[in-house]
Amino acid sequence: MADVARASFYEPVEQELRELEARLRGVARGGHPTFGAAVEHLFSAPGKLLRPTLVFLAARFGTRPDPAVVLNLALSLELVHTASLVHDDIVDRADLRRNMPTVNARWGDDAALIVGDYLFAKAYALAAVLPKPEVIAIVAQTVFALCDGELKEVTMERALPSEEQYLERIELKTASLYAACCQGAALLTEAEPEHVAALGAFGTNLGLAFQITDDILDVVGDESEFGKTVGRDLAEGMPTLPMIYAALEADGYAGELARRITRIGKAEGEVRDLLRVIRESGGPARARERALAFHDLAASALDALPDGRERAALRDLADFVISRVR
Ligand code: FPP
Ligand code: MG
Repeated sequence: MADVARASFYEPVEQELRELEARLRGVARGGHPTFGAAVEHLFSAPGKLLRPTLVFLAARFGTRPDPAVVLNLALSLELVHTASLVHDDIVDRADLRRNMPTVNARWGDDAALIVGDYLFAKAYALAAVLPKPEVIAIVAQTVFALCDGELKEVTMERALPSEEQYLERIELKTASLYAACCQGAALLTEAEPEHVAALGAFGTNLGLAFQITDDILDVVGDESEFGKTVGRDLAEGMPTLPMIYAALEADGYAGELARRITRIGKAEGEVRDLLRVIRESGGPARARERALAFHDLAASALDALPDGRERAALRDLADFVISRVR
């Protein structure tokens, strides 16, 4: 769990996370050797495991928790997440994630595509045996949302989106999965309806805060800490919130900066120059304020939940998500 291994929000669900990590490493058992090698590569250093942590914490608010069933939901959603990243790295032509080569960089695009399919099929096989059809439907709806968000991104016209269009896109591609972890676990364990709603609102706002933070770090981050190549969004002509704000501050939606940001096939020097221009603008700070506002909405959704160590852990997790840019 890398640098966040000692973060306090993991403590209440440490045992569940150990079981999850063991199950993740065993996911390729009986599969093709290349799938086995990719799974070993992906899960030997499994990342922050925020989504399963959310599943395990949210399940504690249920009235009928069944640990084996909750573990299956956590595994299923972590596999959906991993499958989507494997595919996204092909789409983004990314070669670094979690400070390691991506599956496409290591095995090529064709193999990475099939590894992603394989992981997704494993995720759905786990979801299919969940005892509540409404939770199975949530998993499926979340995958639709991820696909809609990603398709919006790849089919986007070469123009700067409005803040609203940007938020709609990140709600689909990121916040939907955070909401599914929290709300799905609450539904699965038969939490009170107002607790299900509170956890859903918490997940959505947390996901929005997370993605805006990620997009800020793609502009201002330190590459070794971030674990991904900085400036990737700009290189791909993918406008994010700090860039939108920087362009609005400079010369508006249809201005010169907006045109430079959304241009594809930029030379390396142009990416570096644009990074400097955006870093020196008020864009990152304004985006940071927006991330903090979503963090605050997430934190206030927790007020509807009973006080205790799980609620405190969810609050700490929300603080962690935005701490990287605070
Ligand atoms: C990362 O965004 C990408 C996503 C959050 C969603 C990707 C979704 C798909 C590829 C479709 C769903 C596919 C399956 C198999 C479920 P980013 O590029 O902004 O973040 P990054 O910097 O971490 O790459
Ligand atoms: Mg990407």
